[in-house]
Formats: sequence, structure tokens, C-alpha cells
Amino acid sequence: MKETGERIVMVTAYDTPTARVVDRAGVDIILVGDSLGMVVLGYESTLKVTMEDMVRHTAAVGRARPRALLVADMPFLSFQVSPERAVENAGRLVREGGADAVKLEGGRAMLPAIEAITRASIPVMGHLGLTPQSVLRFGGYRVQGRGGEAGDELLADARALVEAGVFLIVLEGIPQGLGRRITEAIPVPTVGIGAGPGTSGQVLVLHDLAGLSEEPLPRFVKRYGQVGEALQSAVEGFAGEVRLGQYPAPAHCYD
Ligand code: KIV
Repeated sequence: MKETGERIVMVTAYDTPTARVVDRAGVDIILVGDSLGMVVLGYESTLKVTMEDMVRHTAAVGRARPRALLVADMPFLSFQVSPERAVENAGRLVREGGADAVKLEGGRAMLPAIEAITRASIPVMGHLGLTPQSVLRFGGYRVQGRGGEAGDELLADARALVEAGVFLIVLEGIPQGLGRRITEAIPVPTVGIGAGPGTSGQVLVLHDLAGLSEEPLPRFVKRYGQVGEALQSAVEGFAGEVRLGQYPAPAHCYD
């Protein structure tokens, strides 16, 4: 797709019904992101997400039997401790969760983990830039790679990840010029989120694009629906009819 200039579409999903919807919409990649922690489990960051969370939700998405490539995020501390632990955890996401590939955050420091996982024949997607698992080190969710030196560092990370065998790199929260520069400099596709239009494709969190997450939202998010309002209106409809004695009607009753 990168070679032919066809843009790659990736969207997150965390359970069977949303995976069915996202797959029917024809996306190329479904990501069971560790954004799960923030958009579904109500945490303030992704740091509390566990392997158990990721395996359970990846398996739920897998049960939708999607046509799209199914990629599962490796949560905080599931791949940083040792390459052995990284392979075991990536293996769980494939074996128990049904993932086709795993994604992990980080640059050159993560090469031993990436090499070990790819050696175990599990495809790895990289993730550079504003990587949310590094929020404490960054001191907040700040755009990364600003300025020549920082941009060069990210480009060096991207080249090293490709060398280690990643099949795609997510670029998050970086200046658009750098998103284009990295995409043009490496042979594998990039998928951007807050990285401008020059990447090989785009990814958004389902709840953000569908209008099911709370504001304020990052600048890069565009809402394509108001699913939260639609759900609220459905529940209000039910509550109103129950209170007026209009539900259940005869058609909803057993004789
Ligand atoms: O966790 C996630 O949903 C992600 C995407 C935003 C790329 O990593």
C-alpha cells in the first residue's frame, strides 16, 4: 500500500460489537490499543493496563473474526523488563488473544525486545513520538521531536526499528514535517496520529472519532459521529417510556 500510495486506515476496538462495526466499515487494521485503559476502563493514563486486560480485550475483538489485520498493544512493563518476558507476553497476545501482530512503544532502547519477538516469528509494529507509556518522563502529553536534534533522534529511532524488523511504525504527536520526513526515509509504512498528512496512513481511537469520549480532546482528533449523544438519547427514550407506563407495550409481552 505504501508503494502504490494507497493510504492505510487503522482504528481501535476493544470488544466484539465494536470490532464488528469497525471491520464492517472496511478498515485495514484494528488495533486493540492500551488506550483501552483511558477510553474504556476510566484510568487517567495507560500505565495501569495489564497483560490480563489486553489478552481479555484482544480475545473479545478476535471473536468478531475480523477481516482486518488484528494488532494488540503490549502494555506498560510487559516488554521493557527483559526480551524473554517480551516474547512470552507477545506470545500470549497471539496465542490467547488471537492477535496477528503486536505493537510496542519506544525507540532504540527497545531493540532487544523487538528483535526477540520478531525472532519468535511474531510481527511487530513500532510506535514513536508522543508514546503515552512515557508520559512520566515527558512530564505530560507533549508534542515530541520538535527542533532539528530531536527530529534527528526520532529518525534514527525509526531507522533502527526498521533494522530490527518492524513492519510498520505508528508516529504519534510529532510535527507534520517530521512525520513526512520519517515516512520518506524508511521503507516500511508509517501510520500517523497527530503526525500530519505525510504518513502512509492514519489511526484514531474509535471513541474519539465516534463521539463517545469526554472533552477536551487532543488537537488532532476529528469527530465523525455523536455516538455518545445517540446512546444517551436511546436510554432517555427507554426511561421516559418506563416512567409513563408505555413500555412494555403488548407487542413486548408473552401471553
Ligand atoms: O493505544 C492506542 O490506542 C494507540 C493508538 C492511539 C496508536 O497506541
